Amino acid sequence: MKVAIGNDHGGVELKNHLVDYLKKNGHEVVNVGTDENASTDYPIYAERVAKKVLSGECERGILICGTGIGISISANKIHGVRCALCSEPVSAALARQHNDANIVAMGARTIGPVMAEEIVKTFLTEGFDGGRHALRVDKIMKLDRDGTLE
Ligand code: RB5
Repeated sequence: MKVAIGNDHGGVELKNHLVDYLKKNGHEVVNVGTDENASTDYPIYAERVAKKVLSGECERGILICGTGIGISISANKIHGVRCALCSEPVSAALARQHNDANIVAMGARTIGPVMAEEIVKTFLTEGFDGGRHALRVDKIMKLDRDGTLE
């Protein structure tokens, strides 16, 4: 799978770990994150990853900041993004199965590299269940588009 990955200064080390992990597991990785430890602003990387995913160039996206919170909030402001902040793989599986999430976010200061590998592996493997969940995702997308369900 072709995957976009982005991170701020808080996520450089975990990003590098995951890039190696993804490549070892046969994925193509587009790194649009910072590779420097200098302080930077996470919305920049949320937008870069979202653009790669929404354009269809990459199938899924991965975002990392210190907590994963700022970068996931930023990504979810972009029309078409369904970004799930995950700290364990059960949530990553359900984010795919129930929410059809297209980007996963993680916190480099809150989880370790092995947990991050499990989250990413799950997120890239699981599919969307559709059915009643599709109706709910349609409502999410109406909120995204119109700001109201009315
Ligand atoms: C940067 O210091 C930090 O605020 C950022 O990585 C993230 O945790 C924000 O949500």
